[in-house]
Amino acid sequence: MLLRPNKSNVPLLRTELPGPQARALIECDERYTSPSYTRAYPLAVAKGEGAVIVDVDGNRFLDFTAGIAVCASGHCHPRVVQAIQRQSEQLLHMSGTDFYYGPQAELARRLAEVAPGPMPKRVFFTNSGAESVEAAFKLARYHTKRQHMIACYGAFHGRTMGALSLTASKVTQRAGFAPLIPEVSHIEFPDCYRCPRSTSTGDCCFDSLDQLENTLFRHTVSPAEVAAIIVEPIQGEGGYIVPPADFHGRLKAVAEKHGILFIADEVQTGMGRTGKMFAMEHWGVVPDIVCLAKGIASGMPLGAIIAKAEIMDWPPGSHASTFGGNPVSCAAALETMALLEEGLIENAAVVGDVLLDRLNQLVSQHPLIGEVRGKGLMIGVELVRDRITRQPATDERDAVIQACFERGLLLLGCGNSGVRFSPPLVIDEADAETAVAIFSEALNELR
Ligand SMILES: Cc1ncc(COP(=O)(O)O)c(C=O)c1O
Repeated sequence: MLLRPNKSNVPLLRTELPGPQARALIECDERYTSPSYTRAYPLAVAKGEGAVIVDVDGNRFLDFTAGIAVCASGHCHPRVVQAIQRQSEQLLHMSGTDFYYGPQAELARRLAEVAPGPMPKRVFFTNSGAESVEAAFKLARYHTKRQHMIACYGAFHGRTMGALSLTASKVTQRAGFAPLIPEVSHIEFPDCYRCPRSTSTGDCCFDSLDQLENTLFRHTVSPAEVAAIIVEPIQGEGGYIVPPADFHGRLKAVAEKHGILFIADEVQTGMGRTGKMFAMEHWGVVPDIVCLAKGIASGMPLGAIIAKAEIMDWPPGSHASTFGGNPVSCAAALETMALLEEGLIENAAVVGDVLLDRLNQLVSQHPLIGEVRGKGLMIGVELVRDRITRQPATDERDAVIQACFERGLLLLGCGNSGVRFSPPLVIDEADAETAVAIFSEALNELR
């Protein structure tokens, strides 16, 4: 079931990078596309298969990005491609907002069934992560009749105005776009590695809850006016930061105490990436609303929110989307879910443990590595200039990612000085070993 392209020739670099075809493509792209895009290195993609990306010059790369944690079942999994082909011969679009069709109804049923909690749930479909967050934001306000939202520093929730108001990852993402949506506050997300008063007792990890209850709710925001708290189970773009075990449970308890909804942004962590279908399952926390996108359809544009049925009480016309729930995307999502349940979630857990272990073994060899952390195939490596001061090694991080690219391994950064390992969930142990060996070589080069 797992897609296993011929591995003996990955990575395989045939030209300098970028090669001649890539240079021509990039020149055209850079002349006509928005300068706001962030390209870490000059990769011009022709095709993908499993965890392999082939560039326009025929160079073969091992992909540990999955297109920003999207291609859950690998690039162009034959079953997903067949599902797309079958559906595209029947119906490309009709708008699930105004009409009924099978793939949307069936996918809603499947998502409602698998999302945490036994209660009845309903699904609203979108086209992206930001739109899912936007929908959750609007539903929370609509249902609670409250306005205020609370998110975390370091969080990334997307770039539309509502989602951007919740995002607090990098200042470039917000600068120049004010005024954003009012009535949004941020609290710290517990980052035990960087906590200024890190203690062996782990108490510092709950500062943000203290901040919420004893600062925010006491001085500036009445909890009775807060519609929802939105949180990523594991902070993604902000640095692949795993919170301490009790954090989400305790945050949810504070929310419940004040009638505040608890929204889990599982856009990056969801759909099997962390070794469970939804990352909140690691902590047994049942959110009121779950936001999804990225991995849900293995690369087809689709997003969704799943909410408790009693919460999704908005009437016809209050929220909708022309393209959300596109039938071809829904068909791809149904096949993706089948693949996840048939083995990819388990594979993410098993191979993720191997990858975590091998990366941890590098710590003794490379002083630049400050910490390795993650769950399943969502693993971050934090690079630091000094293990005592923990000063972020941002330039070094960028250089390591570049050096990996030059050796045929695709990686992305996260946070200030993190490297993210978010491969397609089809990789095996050999792929993990290859990636770690290249990463280690790149770190050596930097020394
Ligand atoms: C947790 C999280 N939420 C929301 C988004 C926004 O998703 P999109 O880029 O599809 O709008 C992202 C994207 O990285 C994300 O990681």
